Amino acid sequence: MDAILLVGGQGTRLRPLTASTPKPMLPAAGVPFTAHQLARARAAGIDHVVLATSYKAEVFEGYFGDGGAFGLEIEYVHETSPLGTGGGIRNVASRLRGDDVVVLNGDVLDAHDIAAQVAQHRASKAAVTLYLTRVEDPRAFGCVPVDDDGRVLEFREKDPNPVTDLVNAGCYVFRRDVLEGAIPADTVVSVERDTFPALLAGGERLQGYVEEAYWLDLGTPTAFVRGSCDLVMGVVPSPALPGPPGQRLLLAGADVSPEATVDGGTAVGAGAYVGPGARVHGSVLFDGAVVRPNAVVSGSVVGRDAVVGTGTVLDAVVVGDGARIGSGNELLRGARVFPDARIGNGVVRFSSDRTS
Ligand code: GDD
Ligand code: MG
Repeated sequence: MDAILLVGGQGTRLRPLTASTPKPMLPAAGVPFTAHQLARARAAGIDHVVLATSYKAEVFEGYFGDGGAFGLEIEYVHETSPLGTGGGIRNVASRLRGDDVVVLNGDVLDAHDIAAQVAQHRASKAAVTLYLTRVEDPRAFGCVPVDDDGRVLEFREKDPNPVTDLVNAGCYVFRRDVLEGAIPADTVVSVERDTFPALLAGGERLQGYVEEAYWLDLGTPTAFVRGSCDLVMGVVPSPALPGPPGQRLLLAGADVSPEATVDGGTAVGAGAYVGPGARVHGSVLFDGAVVRPNAVVSGSVVGRDAVVGTGTVLDAVVVGDGARIGSGNELLRGARVFPDARIGNGVVRFSSDRTS
């Protein structure tokens, strides 16, 4: 079975972490997020994956190679300028082999049954079968009302006045002939804004596959941290988790003082250090990150080789790679420290209203 993984987005909302690393390659629970998705795809019977890349494309191939080490055959197709979600799908069509293809957004962490979605797609003979989930606030997603038989009535991307709480959960099964016929080649196309509405207008059958399973779009720092912690704790299972589920995950060479508290699903990267008296809760520490004694870090991401000074408090903060925050600072709620920035001792007491 073929799959397409859409990983060409810029990851704007996750800046500055995505300044050097594409969003899907950020380490979530110790491995690039894409590794979790590929492991799930493989478990669902997918054996051939085409990555539709654009932004920082080389990072993917450098890590996953031909896919052999991951039990998959992986190919890469690069868009020199982004073609959008539909254009990205169409751009890899020549690599597909089967009659149907699973298309995955590259930033969704979920636990739905991909094989059951494929089976439903085949049974209903739909042109496309869309995995749908319910969310409290559908405005940031594709709103997808369905009839009593699950047939899609409309597709309204980022509708400010949603008519249902059912949204596009970012996993489609496409009939290959539909994908090739409905999306023009070498053109910027949004599958959400262009292709789905056009297929519906043309009378094609689009079917919803509704499953209430764990589901999270990792597009914001808050969601990224939540997703990593849920992976570490096994709230959402992943065959790619590099260790047993628990309160914390320590990668090779991580050095956590016995007098530190590290919990809430925190991932501590390779060679990272947490000093005595420090408390790290529900956070992500990238490789080589340093949390000095008595610092308090919660709901935050500390980038590669970044330093959090003694007694410094971080709550819902993103610290870019290589930044150094001195001792006795306090940064709260949505603050972002840019890569390699320098903050001295006791100079910042910052809080903003941003929560994502
Ligand atoms: N190859 C390629 N080229 N991939 C792209 C491009 C592109 O030009 N633009 C975006 N992508 C990839 C992103 O990397 C991401 O994995 C996926 O397509 C979706 O893009 P996002 O930018 O994350 O979209 P979104 O989160 O605002 O909305 C999408 O996902 C929601 C569910 O999480 C839409 O599909 C919504 O309808 C959906 O509800
Ligand atoms: Mg997204």
